[in-house]
Amino acid sequence: GQLEKGGFPHFMLKEIFEQPECLTNCMRGRVNVDTDNVVLSAVIDYKKQLLDANRFIIVACGTSWHAGLIGKQMIEQLCRIPVEVEYASEFRYRNPVITSKDVVIAISQSGETADTLAAIQLAKEHGAFIYGICNAIGSSIPRATDTGSYIHVGPEIGVASTKAFTGQVTVLTMLALALAKEKGTISTENYMHVVKELHEIPNKIKTVLQLNDRIADLSRTFTYARNFLYLGRGFSYPVALEGALKLKEISYIHAEGYPAAEMKHGPIALIDSDMPVVVIATHNAMYEKVLSNIQEVKARKGKVIAIVSHDDNTISKIADEVIELPDTIECLEPLLTTIPLQLLAYHVAVCKGLDVDQPRNLAKSVTVE
Ligand code: G6P
Repeated sequence: GQLEKGGFPHFMLKEIFEQPECLTNCMRGRVNVDTDNVVLSAVIDYKKQLLDANRFIIVACGTSWHAGLIGKQMIEQLCRIPVEVEYASEFRYRNPVITSKDVVIAISQSGETADTLAAIQLAKEHGAFIYGICNAIGSSIPRATDTGSYIHVGPEIGVASTKAFTGQVTVLTMLALALAKEKGTISTENYMHVVKELHEIPNKIKTVLQLNDRIADLSRTFTYARNFLYLGRGFSYPVALEGALKLKEISYIHAEGYPAAEMKHGPIALIDSDMPVVVIATHNAMYEKVLSNIQEVKARKGKVIAIVSHDDNTISKIADEVIELPDTIECLEPLLTTIPLQLLAYHVAVCKGLDVDQPRNLAKSVTVE
C-alpha cells in the first residue's frame, strides 16, 4: 500500500532515497570517525582465518556479483590479497580449485539464492572458510557460513536491487579497511583518509539525490532507445555493468556495460545517432582516456550522458547531458556514481509506463535453479 511506500510512488524510488540512512545504519558501530577506526566483529573473531588466506573467492549472482567486482578491486588494492569473483552458478559446476587456504565470500541480499548456497556447500566440502555478506537476517546463507557481516539496510522490496548494492559495497569497503590495517598493507594516513571519506558518503548521496528532478527530465528524452551502452573503467566498470542491468531489468531496453577501453573492440560498431551512451567520467587517473572515448562516441553521433565530477568544464561542452557529482576518493566513487544510474533506469521505466517494482519475468530472490 501507499503507507509502506512512505509517500513514494514505488518501493524502488523509496529504497533509492533511503540510501543515506541505510548506509549510516550499515556503518553504525563499525566506522568510528573520531577514533579513525573500522571495526567488523567477524574480522576480530576470525582474524587468523582471514589473514592466513592465500586468496579470496567471491561468489554471487546478479547485482551482488557486481558488488563483488568492486570488492575485488578494493581488497586487492588495500590488502594485496588476490581475489577472484565468480558467478555462483558457474563456480558450482566447473570443478573449481578450492583449498582450505581459500576464503570464500558469499554475497547475497536475500540470503536465499540457490546457486550461491550451492557454491557455499561446495567450498565447504573443500575446507574453505566461508564469509557471508547478506541483508536478510537469519536467512539460509548466513546460517551456512562460518562468519559474516550483515549489511543492515532493511528489507528490500523492489525487485531491482538498489540499497542492497550500496550496502554490499560499503561492507566490502569496511572489510578491506579492517583487513588492510591488520595486514599492515595500508599507511595510517591513507587509512584515516578512506575512513573519513567513507563516513562522508551518506551526506554526499543526499546531494546526489537532489538531482532526481533533473534526471527525471532527461530520462524522458531517452525512452525511444532500443539499446543503451554504459562505459566505465576501474572502479566505474562494475558500476557500468550495474547501471546497464538496472535499465534492462525495469525498462526492458537492451543495455550493455563495457570497460570503456574495450569499446573499440566491438561496441563502437553499434554507435549511431540512436544510441545513448552513459559514460562514467569522474576525475581520476583514467579521466583523459575516458574523455577520448566520449569524443569517439560523439564523432559517430552517439548521445552521451556523462557522469562527471563537480566542476568539470570540459565534458559539459561535448556531452549531450552531464550529471555532476560531489568529489570523493576513487575507491568510493561507486557509492556515488551508482545513484544517478539507479534514478535513470527508474525514470525511463516510469516514462514508459512500466511496473518498476514488479518487472516481468524477474523474481526478487531465485531460490530454485
Ligand atoms: C535476483 C534479483 C536480483 C539479485 C539477484 C541475486 O535476480 O532480481 O536483484 O541481484 O537475484 O540475489 P541475492 O539475493 O543473492 O543478492
